[in-house]
Formats: sequence, C-alpha cells, structure tokens
Amino acid sequence: PRSNRPVSSERRRLNTHKLVLQYVAPCMKSYGLCIVDNFIGNRIGERVLHEVRRIHDGGRMQDGQLACQTRGKSKAIRGDKIAWVDGTEAGCHNIGFLLSRMDKLITFADGQLGSYKIRGRHKAMVACYPGNGAGYVKHVDNPNADGRCVTCIYYLNKNWNAKEHGGILRIFPEGKSYVADIEPLFDRLLLFWSDRRNPHEVQPSFATRYAITVWYFDSEERAEAKRRFKDLTASSQGSTVS
Ligand code: OGA
Ligand code: OGA
Ligand code: MN
Repeated sequence: PRSNRPVSSERRRLNTHKLVLQYVAPCMKSYGLCIVDNFIGNRIGERVLHEVRRIHDGGRMQDGQLACQTRGKSKAIRGDKIAWVDGTEAGCHNIGFLLSRMDKLITFADGQLGSYKIRGRHKAMVACYPGNGAGYVKHVDNPNADGRCVTCIYYLNKNWNAKEHGGILRIFPEGKSYVADIEPLFDRLLLFWSDRRNPHEVQPSFATRYAITVWYFDSEERAEAKRRFKDLTASSQGSTVS
C-alpha cells in the first residue's frame, strides 16, 4: 500500500545501504577499488560542476603542491591546480551536498572496509588539470601511514573522450598483473585504498579535467600519525631548550 512506501530520503538511505552491502564493500575487498556511476544524478552534478567552474574561473585555484618538494619541481610531477573546500563557503553548497552524500556512503560502509574504523576526513580538494598535457606522475597518496585510508574521487567531465582528451587515471594494484584504467566521467565516484596497494597516475590531459577528491581517515592510524607528529615537535622543542 501507498503509505508503506518509503519517502524519497528514506528510499535513498535504503538504496545507499544496498549499494554498499551488495557492491561497494565486496568490490573494495576483491579489487581495492570501486566505481559508482550516476552517483548524485545529472541535475545536482551539473550544479556542482557550475560551482567548480566558478572557483576555477574566479582564479581561486593554486598549483598542486607536494609534501616535500619545491614548487619548481612539483610542476613536473603534478600539473593540476587545486582549491581546498569544506562545502560551507558561499557558492559551494552543492559541493557541500556532494560531500554529505560521500560521507553517508562511507558511514554505511564503515565496519565493512577491511578493519578500518573510518572517522573524519580531509577538506575536499577541488582539482583542475587545465588541458595543456599536464598529468600527475605515478604516486601513492599515503605511503607512510599518515592516517588516510580511502581515497574518494568524484569526476565532473561531460562528453569526455579518453582517446582524444587523455586524462585517464591508471591504477597499478600492487601484486596484480592488470591495471585499472578509469575515465574521469561526469557523475562518477571512485573509491580506492590510499596506501601502497594502489600506486596510480593521471595521464596527460588535453581538455579541462575537473575532479573533487576526499580522503577519509582511519581513526587508529590517524591518532598514531598525530602522536608521531607531536613527538617530532616535542623533541625539536626539547633540543632548543637543552
Ligand atoms: C596527495 C596529496 C594533499 C594533502 O596525496 O597526492 O596531494 O595535503 N595530498 O594531503
Ligand atoms: C591525486 C590524484 C587522481 C585523479 O590528486 O592524488 O591521484 O584522477 N588524482 O584526479
Ligand atoms: Mn593520488
């Protein structure tokens, strides 16, 4: 009967639950990566794209940086421009909505993703490869246990043709004989383990390529990383005193 039909938000909750249970969790377990197409739908996806374009056109993106490289060298390694966004800024509300949907997916998946206990995440990194042939050389997001366990990327590129535009994300799963080539297609969500299991590269991009990346933290690894960082700070302070 009609009255038993879940309302739209409830239905979405059930659908997300099912998606995680039947697809995301088993896929991560088997492959260490997972693609969800049509993640938020065309209408809101377009609004997110519009907000991202505004950030880019407004000159609010900086050259992507590496943790321990000088600016000059960084450019040859990663050619993207980035902005950090938390989704509450003016003109970023649809990005905020996207982030809440990602968080929801991850919350449902928590406890089913290896032994991770996922608590919290980075701000979102809005990235643009400008289409001048720049990419990002093969790297690991979290090689040294900084706390990030899942990389979550949402792509925003309509009519992307990899043959013409390049820009493929190639993942080289550790110890496997295959690679995974992922096209940065509009409304596509990608998840993968952030650690050394998934070295990856962004191949040269010949059209403007937009994506939004979020890194989720494992509570224990993150706490441990913070402790290490604190010890480091404490001992360097100690040495100036003594
Ligand atoms: C990366 C990266 C940014 C950061 O892992 O590739 O650019 O501040 N991370 O963690
Ligand atoms: C990164 C990265 C992949 C992509 O920013 O660390 O690997 O497909 N991005 O944009
Ligand atoms: Mn990366």
